[in-house]
Formats: sequence, C-alpha cells, structure tokens
Amino acid sequence: MSSKPIIAVTRVLPPAGMEMLAEATDIDVRIWPGELPPTRDELATLIDGASAVISLVTDTIDAELLDQNPSIRTVSNFAVGYDNIDIPAATERGVLVCNTPGVLTETTADLTFALLVSAARRIVEGVEYVRAGKWQTWSPTLLLGQDLHDATIAIVGFGRIGREVAKRAVGFSMRILAVTSDPTPRIDRETGATYTDLDTALKEADFVCLNVALNDETRGMIGARELGLMKRSAILVNAARGPVVDTDALTDALKNGVIAGAALDVTDPEPLPADHPLIHLENCIVVPHIASGSVATRAKMARMAATNAIEAVRGNQPPNIVNDQVWEGRISS
Ligand code: DGY
Repeated sequence: MSSKPIIAVTRVLPPAGMEMLAEATDIDVRIWPGELPPTRDELATLIDGASAVISLVTDTIDAELLDQNPSIRTVSNFAVGYDNIDIPAATERGVLVCNTPGVLTETTADLTFALLVSAARRIVEGVEYVRAGKWQTWSPTLLLGQDLHDATIAIVGFGRIGREVAKRAVGFSMRILAVTSDPTPRIDRETGATYTDLDTALKEADFVCLNVALNDETRGMIGARELGLMKRSAILVNAARGPVVDTDALTDALKNGVIAGAALDVTDPEPLPADHPLIHLENCIVVPHIASGSVATRAKMARMAATNAIEAVRGNQPPNIVNDQVWEGRISS
C-alpha cells in the first residue's frame, strides 16, 4: 500500500487542475468519477484516509463529516463561496479551509450583467419566439423591454464582484446604488455609486442585483416584504446564492406582477425541480449556476484549488486560506 498522502477530489476538474494534481507525484489523487456529486455516504468513503479534499459547492462539509474523517486536514473549495462548508466546525477541528478568490470576479460580473441585459431586453423570449417559427414581420410593439441606460441599478453586496458589476453599469450610463452592511451615505470614488440602505435601494432601483455571500445575515434577505418594496417594473438578478431569496415569495411576486421579472443564476433548492414555476414563467430566466463558467476562469479556479490542496498537504502555506487562525495555530505549535 502506498504511504503517500491522498487528495480526494469530488468531481473531475478542468484539465489545468487535473494536470497539476497528476504532476504532484509525491501525492496520491483519488477522484470521484461521477457526473453527479457523491452522496453523503459516497463522499465519506471517497475522503476516507485522505489528507485533503478538493470540494465543490455541491458538497456539504460539516462537523459530522469531519468527525467521521479525522484524516482530513484541508478542505480546498473549488469556488470563492464556501457556504457549503461549516467554517466554525472546521476551524474548531483545526481543518484548514481554502477557496478561489479573485480569479472569477470579472467572469461572474459579466454573467450578472448578461442576465440583467437578457431580462431587460427579453432576449430569451425573443429566441424562443424565433425558434417557434412565430417571426412573421417587424412589429412596432413586439417584445418591448426596458432600457438600461439612465436606469437605476441597486447592487446588493458591494464586494469584489459587486464592484465589477458597477463598472459595467457605468458603461451603460446607469445610476448606481450600492448596498453594504454600512449604509452611511457616501459616494464610491471609482464607480460613482451612492451607498444606501437596502430598503431605499429596493424602492428606487429599476434593477436589483444580488452579489452578496450567503451567511446568517443574507439568508432570506429578499422575501415578500422586500419584493413588495420594489417597483412593479423592476427586475431582480440573483448571481449570489439561491437562499438569499425566498423562492416562494419570488414565485408569487412574479406571478402576481409585484415585480416585472427575475434572472437567476442560483436557486433554492438548487437545482430546481424541472416542473418548478420559476423555470416556466415567461418573466423569469434561470441558468444553471454558471456565473464563473468561462473556459479561462474555470481553468484558473482549478489551478488555484489544486495549488491550495497540494501546498497544504506538503505542509506549506496555501495561498488562499479562509480560516487563517488554523494556519497560524499550526505554525505556532
Ligand atoms: C463560487 O465560486 O462561489 C461560485 O458560485 C461557483 O463558481
């Protein structure tokens, strides 16, 4: 039996990451071959005896799993978000958690903006109309949408990704409202965005983009009350995490004309069942959590996730640690 440390990988990653893992000949790599995520039991078996796991947003890494698998000292998430991992539980158990920040910022902002434009200008409805053979002539009233220029966009979560969304909004001559946990009125120098509180932003915006991390403060942040504050003509874009929005409240709001439309990269649950109304409402666009999904970005994420795991297993400081205190504890002990 090999005495090399093992990195378990919960799905085949883009080649750039797989190649790095293959080149690390001092490490054994165990890969989940399925196209669907391993079940909980399959995950426990996959990581049994491994020193590190490269996980995806679809893998729940919690206290119970870590207790069952004490050999796991590092969880390297192939994502910038890490709400699939119980960070306090990992930290308590001295398990290092790593993620992939920075490399997907612009790509995620691009998709956020693509959703915004698609919903505003009814692109998906247009494609379906043409594909259905309904296009007979030019029409003065066909599929009229909303202008982006001169409209107000609220960006909820003005971190790395939110700021990039704002830069794109500048290019579209939009008025920008930024919502963060500190609503002190002020102007952002780089983008001209005005900081404001959530309720004001919801009331004033034509487009509301969610770009927050999922945590105790943001879970359920947009429910029936918040949707009711929005303009009837407004469009909601969620490129954050599904549970930031109350799915039933959003479905009701779209059905009853409380808001005009929604465009979702993420849903709760994820995926939505194929017969879920959000998938079939004309005023809602749902895409399958692809915000970071460009060839170049997924390659960078794969390299980053592989580097984090490999360095940690070798006893070196991985470049992207979420719970620094675990690393500090390791080097001071
Ligand atoms: C992330 O990185 O958090 C995305 O949601 C998956 O790319």
